[in-house]
Amino acid sequence: MDFVLIDGKQVAGSVRERLKEEIAELKSRGHVPGLAVVLVGDDPASQVYVGSKVKACAELGIYSQKWELPAETSQEELVKLIHQLNADDRIHGILVQSPPPRHIDEEAVILNIDPRKDVDGFHPVNVAKLVLEDAAGFVPCTPLGCMELLKAYGVETAGKHAVVIGRSMIVGKPMAHLLMAKNANATVTVAHSRTKNLPELCRSADIIVAAVGRPEMVTADYVKEGAVVLDVGINRIEDASRPRGYRIVGDVAFDAVKDKCSYITPVPGGVGPMTIAMLMANTVKACRQLVG
Ligand code: GUN
Repeated sequence: MDFVLIDGKQVAGSVRERLKEEIAELKSRGHVPGLAVVLVGDDPASQVYVGSKVKACAELGIYSQKWELPAETSQEELVKLIHQLNADDRIHGILVQSPPPRHIDEEAVILNIDPRKDVDGFHPVNVAKLVLEDAAGFVPCTPLGCMELLKAYGVETAGKHAVVIGRSMIVGKPMAHLLMAKNANATVTVAHSRTKNLPELCRSADIIVAAVGRPEMVTADYVKEGAVVLDVGINRIEDASRPRGYRIVGDVAFDAVKDKCSYITPVPGGVGPMTIAMLMANTVKACRQLVG
């Protein structure tokens, strides 16, 4: 089957163009959206992500603060910074890069973020708003980006069977809620490590969202002819032929699967670019809601 390659860079670009207009409108009323990004420790991948987030802010004219705290930072110190950011009128969005070092209780930290500034959508108030389908809440950026891709390519979700592989709070669970919501109307199955007969289950899916973090786990055997496949995975695998000694692959064996799909996202260049675009969108939304 001829498949359509979903171009996340292009869709992210059009989201950014839309945001530029919204930011200009806010600025005309004297408001500049602001995002604070907090990284504890020196995990190299997290440093790259945080750098990309701050760069995206600069490109759109969003004010940003980057806080890089040493790995030994105590939970109390981190919470103190969050309270300071909650009270800072220049800041409308607060993001603490995940995962933090092991001595920090991430859930307890998130509880201290003002839910109105929780642009990651991790605070229980925003989790509840997602389940309640309250549009004023914040939805985690990666699943929000997946929905934006489906919309951009006109993929029908109503009445379709979607299988979400993975039940994380960052992707799997929110993704399932977005797909089953009344504005999407999919029938959703959430699969996880204890699911039985996963390939067979996935073969009944019209839409597969792979978010497990297992390199190229979804093979042709999982995919029905004509299915839509969204690959959320970003996995490093050894590759001696590459200068860095590794390459990035998704949770889907792209080459083996693509010819069975109607639509498929590549890795990189699919879901990845959408995550930061949606973070920018959530920051602009937070600003709009906070300044009225
Ligand atoms: N680490 C990986 N993805 C994310 C994300 O969306 N938000 C935060 N805060 N940390 C992450």
